[in-house]
Amino acid sequence: MKIELSTEKTICENGEIEIIFVVNKNLEHDFVKDSQILKKLKFKGENEQVVYLHDVNRIYVGLESDDIESFKIAGANAIKKLNSIDGDLVAKIAIYDNNPLQTTKAIAEGFWLGNYEFKKYKSKQEEVKNEIEIIFCAGSSYQNIDIDFETIQNILNESKIISEAINFTRDIINTPPNELYPKVFARKSKELAAQNKIDCQIYDDEFLVSHKMGAMLAVSLASEHRPRLVHMHYKPQNPKAKVILVGKGLTYDSGGLSLKSSDYMVTMKADKSGASAVLGIMKAISELSLDIEVHGICGVVENMIGGNAYKPDDVLTAKNGKTIEVRNTDAEGRLVLADCLCYAQDEIVEFDYIIDLATLTGACVVGLGEFTSGLMGHNDELKNDIVNAAKSCGELVATLPFNRHLKKLIKSEIADICNISSSRYGGAITAALFLDNFIKEENKDKWLHIDIAGPAFIEKNWGFNPHGASGAGVAMVLAFLQNLSNSSK
Ligand code: BES
Ligand code: ZN
Ligand code: ZN
Repeated sequence: MKIELSTEKTICENGEIEIIFVVNKNLEHDFVKDSQILKKLKFKGENEQVVYLHDVNRIYVGLESDDIESFKIAGANAIKKLNSIDGDLVAKIAIYDNNPLQTTKAIAEGFWLGNYEFKKYKSKQEEVKNEIEIIFCAGSSYQNIDIDFETIQNILNESKIISEAINFTRDIINTPPNELYPKVFARKSKELAAQNKIDCQIYDDEFLVSHKMGAMLAVSLASEHRPRLVHMHYKPQNPKAKVILVGKGLTYDSGGLSLKSSDYMVTMKADKSGASAVLGIMKAISELSLDIEVHGICGVVENMIGGNAYKPDDVLTAKNGKTIEVRNTDAEGRLVLADCLCYAQDEIVEFDYIIDLATLTGACVVGLGEFTSGLMGHNDELKNDIVNAAKSCGELVATLPFNRHLKKLIKSEIADICNISSSRYGGAITAALFLDNFIKEENKDKWLHIDIAGPAFIEKNWGFNPHGASGAGVAMVLAFLQNLSNSSK
């Protein structure tokens, strides 16, 4: 698929297809030229309605509101319709008159993200896809809006970089655990860093031992595949801010000795989604040349069973010296993150923000539903910035509040803290409050935790996302970083 920009009018010739987005069911808009036929087909412009009128070569796509998520979904629906038409195609779109820059970006991202599929492991390769060329027409004949060609070209380039980063993240998450284990994840990080101007250090279990990272190390013990700590670093010339990203990278989470049941174990290859999102974000910030210094730290481990596995009842010592009573080996992500957060704060001085991304709790999925990430932290203003960033790119996120009562639930009788809560309720928040124990006092207001357990991997198509990995977290954190990069300091 190719997306281009032209000053042409959207008059389609020689079999070119025109794509018309019908917003808010407004079938009276100048764009709509086939009202009679559309009425016959009962096309009302509802969400997910897409029709292809073969005789006039027009595709109509419905979206009931004009927010960014709706435009992205509409773009994804349009590309699916184009893919269902045989032959190589050229499709043209008039740029929408209301908020033209943001809607063009959203539609283009919808195209790129909706066109993604993960077919690597199909032995019988399906027939080669048709070539599709999509042209956004900035010289639209429909309206007199004045759009700067260069600005809109930049926005299209940006949408491609962001979408490719998301699709890159999706590929890593979708790759099965027999092929992608910590060493392989580390190799992929190195390759990514080499292609972009990013420094990348890889550490193995010897480093974890010498740096007293006893929590992360314990989780790794029973696996043949030894753990890796990945530390990437992107540093532009005059950074406006310094941000640390920390990702949970469980290449497989069997639950350990507190073994998951078969039903819950399937899809746990996706427990590396936080770390994979960090890689995708590093790729995009470098390609977008953002003016932000970013450290990307991934704790990459496989949680397995075996004679030397860590056990419920073990007491571990994390890098900051805190002792942890293990009562459930399936609450392993927080142990890996605890040490990675300590590592980040010990190694990197004077930063502005530290954000972790993790498929941390089933409780977050129960609380918010599978499509929404949970956002936690002490700093309301910072949380607000992420909520707004998510809105601006069509990702779903909701804040979950801390309180002193939940904090008491992770107390331990024998150690400083316990790795699970004593209550069955509020599990997403108690997990975040566990992580809070590994955030230094001076960094409390700089820290955010994003639980992506719901949207990271869903076994059905939803919105602009395919079956499997979605790349959750990449777009919203990137939007936040772009805002920082564009702000004056
Ligand atoms: N990786 C899981 C969380 C998860 C659940 C991710 C569903 C994606 C979808 C995590 O390591 C885990 O198993 N958490 C436990 C914690 C519990 C033992 C306190 C959970 O959520 O059940
Ligand atoms: Zn687990
Ligand atoms: Zn896990």
